[in-house]
This record gives sequence, structure tokens and C-alpha cells, in this order.
Amino acid sequence: MSLGGRPVIKNMKVAVAAAAVAVLAIGVASVATPSPEGTAAIKARHEAMEGIGDALGPLAAIAKGEAPFDSAVVEKNAGTIAENLKKAATLFPEGSDKGDVETWAKEEIWSNSADFAMKMQTARAQAEALQAVTDEAAFRPALGKLGNSCKSCHMDYRRPKQ
Ligand code: HEC
Repeated sequence: MSLGGRPVIKNMKVAVAAAAVAVLAIGVASVATPSPEGTAAIKARHEAMEGIGDALGPLAAIAKGEAPFDSAVVEKNAGTIAENLKKAATLFPEGSDKGDVETWAKEEIWSNSADFAMKMQTARAQAEALQAVTDEAAFRPALGKLGNSCKSCHMDYRRPKQ
């Protein structure tokens, strides 16, 4: 009789272990295996977005009065931004929600893909409008519009970096 409880305890341990394995398996199954294409797209869009960030620097300096207004600088940097936004539009393919490198892209990019594409297109159009600015008075409003279009997409579709 004193040994009667043992198999029960043993069975319970087995059951608990099996449950833990099952939970792990579910966890693994729900994480899609990162594809090489996904990883490549994530890397390429980080590069495109970083290029945009870099090009924004000289424009922000003008806006802050740290550099003089220079339409050549505006054209060059806004042009880089427009080009990189054009590239970025192709760098969020299905399956690139995960990869071997971290991504801050939200799932909603793929569930609201039409809205995402429209926001990308709007931002690009605003970069092109800024590129064409030749007089100082039009510069800040055009830069402001572009900045808002970056923000509006990031708010909906990019997780904040911690
Ligand atoms: C239509 C959406 C959209 C627009 C428009 C957009 N971005 Fe982004 N941006 C993203 C997403 C999504 C990410 C995160 C990508 C990732 O982590 O895979 C990102 C990432 C970035 C990053 C971080 C790069 C990195 O290496 O993580 C910078 C900087 C950036 N964007 C700047 C800008 C600027 C400046 C503009 C406007 C001129 C802009 N973006 C316009 C969607 C957008």
C-alpha cells in the first residue's frame, strides 16, 4: 500500500513534462521559420530607411537655422529620400515580418497593405515636392508635410525601439 502512490506521482510527472513539451511545440510552431528572403528584405529596408534618416539631417539643419537655405542641398537630399522611399515600397514582401535580424515592422503592414502602400506613396510624393522647392518660404512647410508623413506611417506600422 505504501508503494501505491508512486506510479501516480510518476505518471503526473510524465504528464507535466508532456504538457511542457506540448506548450513548447506550440510556441515553436507559431513562430514562422525566418526565410532568407525575409532577412534580406529586412536588411535592405533598414538600409533604405537609414539612408532616409541620413538625408534628413542636412534638411533639419536648414529648418533649425543651423545651415543656410540652399536649394541644391534640398534637391539632393529630398531626392535621396524620394528614391529610398521608392525602394522601401518593394522591401516589405509577405513573409518578411520575421527574419534572422530584428525588425520593428508591425503585422498590420500585411493586414492593411493597401493603406501601407498608400502612405509610402504619399511620403514619396511629398519628398518629390520638397525636391522641387527652390524658395526658402516654401521649404519649411514642405519639409513639415514630409515629416508628418514619416510619422503617420511609423505610428501605425512601426514598433517603437526600446
Ligand atoms: C509607409 C510607411 C513608412 C514611411 C512613409 C516611412 N517609414 Fe520609416 N520605417 C517604416 C517601418 C515599417 C520601419 C521599420 C522597418 C523594420 O524594422 O523592418 C521604418 C524604419 C525607419 C527607421 C529606422 C531604420 C532602422 O534601421 O531601423 C528610420 C530612421 C526611418 N524609418 C526614417 C523614416 C523617415 C525620415 C521617413 C520620412 C521621410 C520615413 N521613415 C518614412 C515605415 C515607414
